[in-house]
Amino acid sequence: KMNAFITALMGKMTLTEKIGQLNLLTPGGGVATGAVVSTDVEAKISSGKVGGLFGVIGVDKIRQAQELAVTHSRLKIPLLFGSDVIHGYKTSFPIPLGLSCSWDMGLITRSARLAARESAADGLSWVFSPMVDIARDPRWGRVAEGSGEDTYLGAKIAAAMVKGYQGNHLGDGNSVMACVKHFALYGAAEAGRDYNTTDMSRIKMYEYYLPPYKAAVDAGAGSIMTSFNEIDGIPASANRWLLTDLLRKQWGFKGMVVTDYTSINEMIDHGLGDLATVSALALKAGVDMDMVGEGFLTTLERSLKTHRVSIADIDAACRRILEAKYKLGLFEDPYRYCNKAAAATEIRSNEQLQAAREFGARACVLLKNEKQVLPLKKTGTIALIGPLANNKNNMLGTWAVNGDPQLSVPVLTGMKQAAGNAVNILYAKGANISDDTSFAKKVNVFGERIDIDSRSPADMLSEAVNTAAKADVVVAVVGEASEMSGEAASRSDIGIPESQRKLIQALAQTGKPLVLVVMSGRPLTLNMENEVAAAMLQAWFPGQEAGNAIADVLFGAYNPSGKLTMSFPRNVGQIPIYYNHKNTGRPQPEGPTQKFRSNYLDVENDPLFPFGYGLSYTTFKYDHLTLSAVRMSSQQSVDVAFTLTNTGSYAGEEVVQLYLRDPVASVTRPVKELKDFQKVLLQPGESKQLHFTIDKEKLSFFNSKLQWEAEPGSFDVMIGASSADIRLKAKLELQ
Ligand code: IFM
Repeated sequence: KMNAFITALMGKMTLTEKIGQLNLLTPGGGVATGAVVSTDVEAKISSGKVGGLFGVIGVDKIRQAQELAVTHSRLKIPLLFGSDVIHGYKTSFPIPLGLSCSWDMGLITRSARLAARESAADGLSWVFSPMVDIARDPRWGRVAEGSGEDTYLGAKIAAAMVKGYQGNHLGDGNSVMACVKHFALYGAAEAGRDYNTTDMSRIKMYEYYLPPYKAAVDAGAGSIMTSFNEIDGIPASANRWLLTDLLRKQWGFKGMVVTDYTSINEMIDHGLGDLATVSALALKAGVDMDMVGEGFLTTLERSLKTHRVSIADIDAACRRILEAKYKLGLFEDPYRYCNKAAAATEIRSNEQLQAAREFGARACVLLKNEKQVLPLKKTGTIALIGPLANNKNNMLGTWAVNGDPQLSVPVLTGMKQAAGNAVNILYAKGANISDDTSFAKKVNVFGERIDIDSRSPADMLSEAVNTAAKADVVVAVVGEASEMSGEAASRSDIGIPESQRKLIQALAQTGKPLVLVVMSGRPLTLNMENEVAAAMLQAWFPGQEAGNAIADVLFGAYNPSGKLTMSFPRNVGQIPIYYNHKNTGRPQPEGPTQKFRSNYLDVENDPLFPFGYGLSYTTFKYDHLTLSAVRMSSQQSVDVAFTLTNTGSYAGEEVVQLYLRDPVASVTRPVKELKDFQKVLLQPGESKQLHFTIDKEKLSFFNSKLQWEAEPGSFDVMIGASSADIRLKAKLELQ
């Protein structure tokens, strides 16, 4: 039915109208992330030269633009309306890197479903999410938008998000089309500098970087966005191997391919030729829709005449865009997503806000908790200090373009509400996020995120120290401003800025127990902080309900259960740092540094906080490991069973992790790889027997012919509380 409908429609379309469908515009207005914004948008819509818009927000505006398309344009083809809905729509949830630390696929699907319902209620049919770029370099600011360094977890999260956005059925009015991005390898930008070159072997690409995109495609994602970087010397948007051979032929992707912002035009600067050349290359490679650059609109007719592209190329791209519109139900009802009543009940509803609070708490990772300083007692005096302690501008994190920072709950407010009258909470700002005005200016491009106080740093510091002196415990909320991570926010020094480091040191010197709540969009280097603080809670950017979520964790209403999905380096020189590294021919043995071994003279090899790490207010014991067999054929599977016991005095959740190692193979294999996990809630004293299944799939890898195979031999089976805290070990043989 769809094919016949589209064939009939395309039969009526002129060449210009077909090319018009390939054109995605934005009128700008606070969301432009490139130098260009679209002009004459209304006239272009009326003349059938636009396929979709993004950055137009709200039922009224979207309805108005849709009306132009369906009443003024000749063939009345409805527009797609997209937006960067990255971690919640108008209700901002924690940044994706934070959400990934929940290791809770149900929660992640729910967060995407809630975001879909809220956006669909407000006129949108398309979200530019999930971002599934694997990243091993925390200098890259966009790690905030992804799920960290691990391929297995990243692939699970990618699929969970697509399911959440697209629901059971695209076109049901509360599901939106997902857009997997950024295809491909964007997370491997050299030196962590955004938009920089990537270069890697095919085996690394297949094994570690591509699976999350594939998982999203397999989960049915309706669209995919090309990345800015090159792959094997050819920018993604002109890379036919990537977009056609791999994506469509090998993976069977049936949806539409959109470029990133002006990335076709940027291929002029990459050095591939003029606008007509790069636009033709992009279409030929498999791009369907051109974001903002209008290279397709302005050059494809000419390129058709000069035979650089064919009408079949244009038709194929146009058909895929019309198919997406059809599946979203837009031909049936172009206003399907423009329902004011739905907007009124769905946007920032109680359900959305409660979820934001719950997600905010579940994203937190407890990094340290000496002498059980946390949870805080609800008595005495707490000094709440720091530039992020009473701050609305920085709770949402990057890419919360539709959220309203002014609606966010500051930590001070959340703490006061949770504590009631039982606790005396004193507050002092203590320091600016950064005292560096030129740095602040760069960070503040998207609005003020680093505000520099009119008081002198010395005055602020002494006020904070005096406040701390009056308290039983000091809680300092420190870290990055929202826009210190995200797009075009790479940093070469990933420490907490100097102004706040001075504050932390001064607070530590008061001798009061010091709790650090760290907000950031990336792993930071936290050596000094780890030495002086009694407790540290990594809170990422918790979203709109920040203050309530943090208070829930600090006072113990929620027992933290997050585990890191990216390694926290000791210093920048260790980057790239990731748990599933190779052994090398000269591994550093346990114990002191040895000459002629793979190590550093000035720092350990291991990170400060490893992948998979996170504490709880309770403790867990792992024992009684049994394997149903110690030998298996490739048709069989083995059941791995063990007992987990809550040995502390709080109910709590543990993320148990299964790692495997193939110590001898035809290609070198990592020292360990995550192959499964479970999140389990146990009451104090409760035990549960847990099971993992190991089958051939879990033992497989890409060999040097890029075939996914398992090789016979012995495997190490490891069950851990983190990648560096392996509690149970066994051997398994594949025959
Ligand atoms: O979706 C984004 C992408 O992640 C980065 N460039 C701009 C796009 C649209 O805003």
